Amino acid sequence: QADVFTFDPGFTSTAACESAITYIDGDKGELLHRGYPIEQLANKSSYLEMCYLLLYGELPNASQLSDFEGRVTRHTMVHEQMHNFFRGFRRDAHPMATMVGVVGAMSAFYHDSLDINDEWQREVAAIRMVAKLPTIAAMAYKYSIGQPFVYPKNSLSYAGNFLNMCFAVPAEEYHVNPILAKAMDRIMMLHADHEQNASTSTVRLAGSSGANPFACIAAGIACLWGPAHGGANQACLEMLREIGTVDRIPEYIAKAKDKNSGFRLMGFGHRVYKNFDPRATVMKESADEVLDLLGIHNNPTLQVAKELERIALSDDYFISKKLYPNVDFYSGIILDAMGFPTSMFTPIFAISRTVGWIAQWKEMIAEKNQKIGRPRQLYVGEKQRDYVDVKHR
Ligand code: SDX
Repeated sequence: QADVFTFDPGFTSTAACESAITYIDGDKGELLHRGYPIEQLANKSSYLEMCYLLLYGELPNASQLSDFEGRVTRHTMVHEQMHNFFRGFRRDAHPMATMVGVVGAMSAFYHDSLDINDEWQREVAAIRMVAKLPTIAAMAYKYSIGQPFVYPKNSLSYAGNFLNMCFAVPAEEYHVNPILAKAMDRIMMLHADHEQNASTSTVRLAGSSGANPFACIAAGIACLWGPAHGGANQACLEMLREIGTVDRIPEYIAKAKDKNSGFRLMGFGHRVYKNFDPRATVMKESADEVLDLLGIHNNPTLQVAKELERIALSDDYFISKKLYPNVDFYSGIILDAMGFPTSMFTPIFAISRTVGWIAQWKEMIAEKNQKIGRPRQLYVGEKQRDYVDVKHR
């Protein structure tokens, strides 16, 4: 049931929402999507099958999955006019800045005819969002490196299409490496939804006012960008590279324990998990597998990450604070091995999380008597006082 908290001075507020999509037990390190453990989904399912599960509540049968994949595939192109939005950004704009702007602009293309009170139209908006985010993220990447946009190819898988749109160039054939496509699909599954995290709560709060879903997702992307949230995967790889070698780890551990340093180990800790983040465990296995398959043995960054994890997990400070690696600790190492710049790490998180955001938005809008969100505060300011004319101040 929705938890009801009573704050001083005696007002109550329902500070939690009801949702049937994702369950987390932070003490046990458990993550379930519609009841299915993330470990099983990550090893047996696919991202689009998980999208179906998150959106509709059940795993699809073969024909339902094929129909859903076909509907998503046929919506992967964006309106040709949307290409113009990219040219308004500086070449060196962070792809997340571009994504916030372009996804928000989808409101101008797909919002007018959208009645969010109509179930079918909410469904169409959800499919469009899941389908177009990879295209927009790939376009943001291509724009940032001065290469031409690559159109989606319906013959490719969802993850393979994204890799092709990012790495193909007109000058030569690009062959999607199935190992990388599978690893990318698993990364997307591991980031698909995570209960009421900051960006999902942002999407819900924006949606509670009746704002159109494209604008709500743009708000979620903006929130995800922060280094305390989805931006941590970029910050984590940059930290691991800065550490450089395992002999420098103690220096960073000491800095992380020094309150005055303001430094935190990126990819460590979590607001809910006070045990292992189950996604980090799967991600670590995937990092080993992908780097091995790519023949990148003894990757120095992976060595530093593993040694940093080993040292931190045996350190009393981290044990006392229950700080464990989270989903962002290993993901950057895999994305780096795939050839992505760190600036594309959070956009990939945003692509993956779009289905979680839109599933939670749909769940909330479908609620009977949905009310606008209104977080309350504890007022700690001045008591009432009278105005003083400037002559007497
Ligand atoms: C994501 O909510 C979600 O579900 C998010 C997410 C999702 O899928 O949506 O899981 C994705 O955002 C993962 C988190 C990615 N962020 C990082 O890796 C950034 C580094 N981590 C921290 O900034 C921090 O751990 C948070 C923000 C993730 C969680 O912070 P909390 O739960 O608010 O914990 P806190 O800041 O109150 O810290 C508790 C204590 C503090 O010490 P004290 O004040 O009690 O003395 O632990 C310390 C902190 O100083 N601490 C750390 C630390 N994280 C917390 N010390 C060093 N390094 C860290 N990483």
